[in-house]
Amino acid sequence: MSSNLKGLVLAGGAGTRLRPITHTSAKQLVPVANKPVLFYGLEALRDAGIRQVGIITGDTGDEIREAVGDGSALGLEVTFIPQSAPLGLAHAVLTAEDFLGDDPFVMYLGDNLLRDGITALVEEFRASGPDATILLQKVPDPGSYGVAVLDGDRVVSLEEKPAHPQSDLALVGVYMFTPSIVAAAKAIQPSARGELEITDAIQHLIGAGMRVEAHVVTGWWKDTGRVEDMLEANRLVLDVIEPRVDGEVIDSDIEGRVIIEAGARLVRSHVRGPAIIGSGAVVEDSYIGPYSSISSDCVVRHAEIEHSILLERVHVEDLDARVEGSLIGRDVTISRTDAKPRAYRFVLGDSSVIGLT
Ligand code: G1P
Repeated sequence: MSSNLKGLVLAGGAGTRLRPITHTSAKQLVPVANKPVLFYGLEALRDAGIRQVGIITGDTGDEIREAVGDGSALGLEVTFIPQSAPLGLAHAVLTAEDFLGDDPFVMYLGDNLLRDGITALVEEFRASGPDATILLQKVPDPGSYGVAVLDGDRVVSLEEKPAHPQSDLALVGVYMFTPSIVAAAKAIQPSARGELEITDAIQHLIGAGMRVEAHVVTGWWKDTGRVEDMLEANRLVLDVIEPRVDGEVIDSDIEGRVIIEAGARLVRSHVRGPAIIGSGAVVEDSYIGPYSSISSDCVVRHAEIEHSILLERVHVEDLDARVEGSLIGRDVTISRTDAKPRAYRFVLGDSSVIGLT
């Protein structure tokens, strides 16, 4: 097989299940432990020895381009490939046809996270040379994913989000392909949801007698498409961070795995890890509990936060109850005033969710 294995990262899509965050921002740029989800995938490709990466973009292309730059900071050569509309994962492959040329490639969905990376899997793909390799993991809700039926190691059939799943093996959003997938993507028809499904294209390879290998992934895998998955991914990543305190800590306690970035300021507060507090953030007279990611330039005063992700420049001040299980978008302010009449005052975007005690 050609040694020039490329990467194809999908960073388009509407991100409907992460609204309202995705009304204004790309779902692939929501931070997990203060780093955009997308960067974990790009690093996994780099660590597997891949240099040339195409990134498929949609409506949020400008933001993705700005975050990734030319890729050199990540050790990659990145080419941005705009997709005309989110018409499916196989449509994204067709959009990238010129970039891919005759080379094999790893397709990586930009909102997926794999604990163990992909290095060993890519090595095996290079060595054993199948037409395609898919990754699978057992899930409790297979109907939300592509689902595979195996006979031993052989893939018998694949179905996208089946109403009646024939197994509990979900397709992980990382695939290894030879150029044969391009012809398969051209041969299939759009699904009921109007998309050219990669699942159908792989099924087409199987039907044509090609060699499709499957690996069941043992380390954790997360598709961060929903808020609860995003919080869970944040929890899993924070669990293994290397603690470090580079910021200012005044009259405060820090317990467990905690990162305080340079330029952050902790005053009369208690941080119980795993947690991360970004540069320029100010935490005063507050408690930051396990599994919290506080992004750069946030302000937390007289408040308690646990198991939550705060994006950049969020202000949380003077709350009576703890903030928990929350994903709070950029520049949001949550505070209390003494203004009369005593009332709730909201300025909320579409699809916001408020839970009061
Ligand atoms: C996509 C694929 C699905 C796969 C999933 C993994 O679904 O269509 O087969 O199991 O990614 O993340 P989507 O998240 O786009 O609905």
